[in-house]
Amino acid sequence: MNILFVASEVAGYAKSGGLADVSSALPKAFKKLGYNIKVVMPRYYSIDKTKLKSLGAMGVSMGSLGEFWCEVFTTKMGSVDIYFIDYEAYFGRANLYSDEKGVAYSDNAERFIFLSKASFELARLLNFRVDIIHANDWHTALIPLMLKAKYRYVDEFKNSATILTIHNMQHQGKFQNRNLIDIAEVGWESFTPDNLEEFGGLNFLKSAITQSDAINTVSPTYSKEIKTREFGYGLDSYLRGRELLFGILNGVDYSEWSPKNDNYIVKNYSLETIEDKKICKRDLQKIFNLPQNNNIPIIGFVGRFATQKGIELISQAIWEILELDIQMVILGSGEKWAEGFFSDIANRYPQKFATHIGYSNELAHKIEAGSDMFLMPSLFEPCGLNQIYSLAYGTPPIVRAVGGLDDTIRNLDKNIEKPNGFKFYKATKEALVGTIKWAVDIYYNDKKSFNMLIKNGMQDKFNWENSAKKYEKLYKLAIYKKELEL
Ligand code: ADP
Ligand code: GLC
Repeated sequence: MNILFVASEVAGYAKSGGLADVSSALPKAFKKLGYNIKVVMPRYYSIDKTKLKSLGAMGVSMGSLGEFWCEVFTTKMGSVDIYFIDYEAYFGRANLYSDEKGVAYSDNAERFIFLSKASFELARLLNFRVDIIHANDWHTALIPLMLKAKYRYVDEFKNSATILTIHNMQHQGKFQNRNLIDIAEVGWESFTPDNLEEFGGLNFLKSAITQSDAINTVSPTYSKEIKTREFGYGLDSYLRGRELLFGILNGVDYSEWSPKNDNYIVKNYSLETIEDKKICKRDLQKIFNLPQNNNIPIIGFVGRFATQKGIELISQAIWEILELDIQMVILGSGEKWAEGFFSDIANRYPQKFATHIGYSNELAHKIEAGSDMFLMPSLFEPCGLNQIYSLAYGTPPIVRAVGGLDDTIRNLDKNIEKPNGFKFYKATKEALVGTIKWAVDIYYNDKKSFNMLIKNGMQDKFNWENSAKKYEKLYKLAIYKKELEL
């Protein structure tokens, strides 16, 4: 099977969140299964092109705007071929999606139409006969439609079926400018409510939801949740109408996220040498200028400061959390109010609360290893990777039971087999505070249970190979569906 995997970010090259982790790890798992997979992403400014091999120039039609020429670069990501679309005017910018103030770039639609189109042109350039084109999130969501409108009779795509993976329903790629239809060259017949049109404008994700051969989200529970009004962000009725919609849980790239071989942490450890985790805890306290005390539990948080992640809940609960005998370390950036709020708390309570505003892969690893518990009170969570990473690091998660958090965390409860963390259900301050208090109480007063959580979590395995085998089935389903329809 020949697979073309297109994403706006890939870990190791450009990352804002979990999409990047998936786009790096899943293709590697596919390669291990023996498939031929090529990954395509933009060559952002931060990606050093002198380390890549140039394949030369490539013309990409941008419809009514004319033909734009880019340069294509390539390298090996492990054993996977990865390709970079280099077009300075679109991708030569400091950030991936938005300016320093957090405002989305005004030409994001054009930028990712360009990436999507360039992916087709690249396959032609390489004479790569594609069986599956795998699009991810709104950025590449016009691909299924582009295939139908323009490329289906081109040799390389005669047998191509399309898959959309939804990593997040909240971001749909909605644009008021209808003329993008002529830039994307997808035809005005797509301007209907059951395809690209929405309230007189365009919705890229909606188009892929209605046009791709099969769809999946990144956890089984989220694949059900998005069919409801609460989680569907306006597209639930379209999702309810799709038969081929599945949930496939993300895995973990244990070569990146394992305390046994993590290069960022001060001391490697495993379940057998779990005492060494304390050395990482000390290191974390040192880095964040917190009192170096082994006995006080550290609650860690790493993530985008976005409503999705429950940051409002944390901010409402913070006063009661600070009354507990704990330390708290928060790493993240995003909403400006949250950056200001958490910095302020850190200034006022330096003995208890520390934060780093920004993006730091190294600190993310150190927090996973050095914390005693990991907090993820998300309002919704398609999969969530940090809670799975924290299981591997022996750092029991405290999570809200939604989406992938619900699928991966088993509550500490005598009726539940092999519990690995703490769960709460209602998205309220009271539920969050109550659960943190409970977790802290278990930490101090029931070491046996706490150690059982650590052990069960560290024994859990979320291998990408298992998920890749499920994607393989989904790919086959998409191909059968396409063949039957032709
Ligand atoms: P999402 O994709 O919704 O942001 P996930 O839990 O799936 O959430 O993945 C988040 C990924 O991004 C993890 O690998 C996490 O470590 C990383 N991450 C998020 N914020 C930061 C940050 N400020 N610094 C470093 N890594 C971060
Ligand atoms: C999204 C989701 C997150 C998921 C990630 C990777 O950004 O918010 O829950 O883990 O994509 O699929």
